[in-house]
Amino acid sequence: MKFSSIPRLSRAQLLLSILLFTPTTLSVDPYVEIPIEVPPDNADLRTLDRNVLSWSIQNRDIAMYTVTPMLKHFFHDLSVNIGASISLRVGGGESDKAHYSPNNTISMERFQTGNYSRMNITLGPNYFKAIDNYFEQEIRYIWCLNLRNRTNRYEGAVTVASGVLEHLGDQLDYFEIGNEADFLGSQGFRPSDWNVQMMKPEWDIIVERVQDLSPNKQIKFWAGGFANPAYRLHQDFNVQGMLAAGYQGNHIPWYNLHLYPQSGCFADPIMEALLHHDATVKNISYYVDQVAAAESVGAQFLMGESNTVSCSGIPGISDTFAAALWMVDWVLQSASIGIRRVYIQSGTQAPYSPIHPHDYQGIRDWADNNYTAGILPLAYGAYFLSEVVSYDDSLIISAIEGGNDTDYSSYAFWDESNSLRKFVVLNLELYKSNEGATNPSTPDSQFEPTEGPRGRSTFNVSTPWPVGEELSIIKLQGPGSNAKSGVNVSHFVWKEDSGEIDSNLVDEILTVQEGGFVVFDLWASEAALVQPYSIVTENEHPTKLNTTAASTTVEGVVLRTRGAEDAEGAAGRVALSWSMMWLTVMGAVFWTMT
Ligand SMILES: *[C@@H]1O[C@H](CO)[C@@H](O)[C@H](O)[C@H]1NC(C)=O
Ligand SMILES: *[C@@H]1O[C@H](CO)[C@@H](O)[C@H](O)[C@H]1NC(C)=O
Ligand SMILES: *[C@@H]1O[C@H](CO)[C@@H](O)[C@H](O)[C@H]1NC(C)=O
Ligand SMILES: *[C@@H]1O[C@H](CO)[C@@H](O)[C@H](O)[C@H]1NC(C)=O
Ligand SMILES: *[C@@H]1O[C@H](CO)[C@@H](O)[C@H](O)[C@H]1NC(C)=O
Ligand SMILES: *[C@@H]1O[C@H](CO)[C@@H](O)[C@H](O)[C@H]1NC(C)=O
Ligand SMILES: *[C@@H]1O[C@H](CO)[C@@H](O)[C@H](O)[C@H]1NC(C)=O
Ligand SMILES: *[C@@H]1O[C@H](CO)[C@@H](O)[C@H](O)[C@H]1NC(C)=O
Ligand SMILES: *[C@@H]1O[C@H](CO)[C@@H](O)[C@H](O)[C@H]1NC(C)=O
Ligand SMILES: *[C@@H]1O[C@H](CO)[C@@H](O)[C@H](O)[C@H]1NC(C)=O
Repeated sequence: MKFSSIPRLSRAQLLLSILLFTPTTLSVDPYVEIPIEVPPDNADLRTLDRNVLSWSIQNRDIAMYTVTPMLKHFFHDLSVNIGASISLRVGGGESDKAHYSPNNTISMERFQTGNYSRMNITLGPNYFKAIDNYFEQEIRYIWCLNLRNRTNRYEGAVTVASGVLEHLGDQLDYFEIGNEADFLGSQGFRPSDWNVQMMKPEWDIIVERVQDLSPNKQIKFWAGGFANPAYRLHQDFNVQGMLAAGYQGNHIPWYNLHLYPQSGCFADPIMEALLHHDATVKNISYYVDQVAAAESVGAQFLMGESNTVSCSGIPGISDTFAAALWMVDWVLQSASIGIRRVYIQSGTQAPYSPIHPHDYQGIRDWADNNYTAGILPLAYGAYFLSEVVSYDDSLIISAIEGGNDTDYSSYAFWDESNSLRKFVVLNLELYKSNEGATNPSTPDSQFEPTEGPRGRSTFNVSTPWPVGEELSIIKLQGPGSNAKSGVNVSHFVWKEDSGEIDSNLVDEILTVQEGGFVVFDLWASEAALVQPYSIVTENEHPTKLNTTAASTTVEGVVLRTRGAEDAEGAAGRVALSWSMMWLTVMGAVFWTMT
């Protein structure tokens, strides 16, 4: 959902709403025991899609991202970890204004600067060229088509589909028809009683005409993409409504709705709410029925657009470390009820984006200022999730029971024979600090630092792992919940200006204690991923081959730089070179003796 010119609340209204909605600040006990039940209850298990975290970018922004290599590097590193192509939905408000003409002569550079009409967007070959030339690895696309314009039997949808098929056809997974089509009635593009039934004949014409473009390949579609959340049903715009209206068949393997937990257009969102695990559980719980409806016809359900706050996000919320922690919790909570994928909406200048590819002038209330290219905390949330997904076979997720009324959250990951492979614990306690509070890539925000020292909790997790097994723990960490910079995943950092890897990930080594207990500390606002170190060394990593082995001990903690050859290999080589030396010395002795 993109910002449209809806007036923001006045300062007085803002103050009033803050006074009316004072969130309770939750804390986490200094000592927490988390039992992982073994074997897991089969009813709670859900397959984890490698693309569980995916991306959605508007037509204009995707071309604008291509002027610097930042997005490409970001996607590359995520893709290596998840062992799959990145799934990218090209969609948003502009989808319903777009047409395509092979005769359009707008230059590639102009598409890349985004400087062309906003009302009638005619894409041309140079638009697709900009995108196709840019990515070095395969991207799998979902392309949203124009449902709003009915001229000439949906010429907008059909021409854009022809452009996509011609230029990116090999990488196209699905088309989608209409972005947030439930709004077409209230926006005046359709009758005010517009519903899913009325939309069906229009949808069918587009499906048929697009399929006609590609006689040799069955074209598949995502159905839905509605803006209203499941807990505020508008007309019949949900999965049950679509099924009743007959949106079904082999050509519709996925259904989707959009969901933002807070609104940036109509309400005053707050950062603190992102750290309320109970709010996340509640938001997602409304989708259990949607998943069941999709699965009842052999299809799957996903969230086609999501992020912290709708309408491009809000500085001080969407661009903070809290947003990164929220995203991890939100995506894993979704996966744990069977929402297969969550597409995070991003733009080149939006506060809710992981990457700002180039310098830009602020939007809306921040339009007077200029900001730099940069990387926001959300990018590190994405990196952390890619480490969760990284595995050489299929993973299955379950939420660990007991965390839904607390300010921590935990998830277990199993293999197909129900052996525990990994777990994640998020300490969502709030901590606001002056450290890392600004970032030149996003507007500054007001905040009150938390009084007193930062909370810290010891987590004692019971696992079925054998005593003495060597584990890796990596952390999504930052100086405070409100931090806009200084965030990393166990020292893994990208360069702010290029998106290249600046410093590599460092695994901290833990060992399983007597009885299978795994014990570690987390600061307020910090998350951990724990797994056997052997899993880490088996999987691909963006820098796997570049560094040399190093196992250092700092204050009793064993650290191993990711990408290093495994410690045994290195130790083995040292031992080998010693024995070679010994042989050489002995040989020399023998030689002189004879
Ligand atoms: C493109 O130009 C050719 C040649 O002028 C014309 O025949 C064709 O109809 C044009 N196509 C579109 C979609 O405008
Ligand atoms: C946008 O494009 C027009 C037409 O090419 C040009 O005159 C104008 O200077 C451009 N504006 C910016 C901000 O680049
Ligand atoms: C869009 O605008 C261009 C030039 O302004 C015009 O030639 C074209 O016909 C318009 N396309 C549509 C689909 O309205
Ligand atoms: C598309 O729809 C918009 C809004 O109704 C309208 O202004 C525009 O003229 C339409 N364009 C075409 C090519 O039908
Ligand atoms: C969704 O979560 C937000 C906090 O992110 C909360 O304010 C809102 O009340 C929740 N909505 C529902 C319907 O549970
Ligand atoms: C931001 O950039 C614009 C365009 O380059 C410039 O006109 C404006 O003065 C800059 N604003 C500030 C506050 O530097
Ligand atoms: C929270 O967890 C308890 C069990 O620990 C469960 O009974 C309850 O339904 C859960 N609540 C939600 C909203 O998921
Ligand atoms: C972890 O919990 C178990 C079970 O309560 C307990 O026996 C063990 O001492 C705990 N370990 C630590 C380090 O607190
Ligand atoms: C990573 O973050 C932690 C916690 O904020 C900080 O101590 C550490 O210096 C950071 N490391 C890098 C490489 O940025
Ligand atoms: C790793 O080394 C290869 C070969 O020297 C190089 O092409 C690649 O860019 C390096 N990767 C990183 C992340 O430094």
